[in-house]
Amino acid sequence: METLHEEITDEIRAILDKWKPKEGNLIMILHGVQQRYGYVPWNISKFLASELSVPLARIFEVVTFYNFFNLEAPADYKISVCTGTACHLKGAPVLIQGLKKQLKISPKAQYTEDRKFKVEEVRCVGCCGLAPAMVINEEVYGRLKPEDIEPTLETIKIEETS
Ligand code: FES
Repeated sequence: METLHEEITDEIRAILDKWKPKEGNLIMILHGVQQRYGYVPWNISKFLASELSVPLARIFEVVTFYNFFNLEAPADYKISVCTGTACHLKGAPVLIQGLKKQLKISPKAQYTEDRKFKVEEVRCVGCCGLAPAMVINEEVYGRLKPEDIEPTLETIKIEETS
C-alpha cells in the first residue's frame, strides 16, 4: 500500500485539543481526521500516537476494526464490482479484468496511478437481477458485458469535462 502524507492542519490540532482531555477520545479524533481527509493518513496516525501517548498499533487496530475508517485516500471514482455468486457466475471476473485493463491498473492493484479511479471487489450489492453489476460512486450499472466497459468509462470522462 502506498503511504500518503497529509499536512497536519490547525483543524486537526483543534480536533485534538477538543477531545484530548476527554474519555474515549481516540475514536472521536479519528472521526474528525476521516471527515477532514476522507481517510486516516499514516503520518497523522503517527502524530496522534505521539500526542495521545498511545501505541501506533492501537490506532491501527481501531482504524482497521471499524469499516467506517479508510487507510487510503478515496478515489474520485470508486468502481465497486460485485463478486457475489450471481455476478460471479455471469462474468464479474471478466469485468474486473476489463476495467483494470482499460484503466491501466495492474491486476493486484486497485487504483489508477493518478488515484482518480479505484476498482474494488465487493459482495452482493443487492441487484442480483441485474447481474453482473457494478456501482460507480452511487450509481448502479447492471447486465454488463465486457464491451460495455469502454463506453461506461467514456461517459464518466465526458461528464467530468462538461
Ligand atoms: S450477487 Fe451481485 S448483486 Fe447480488
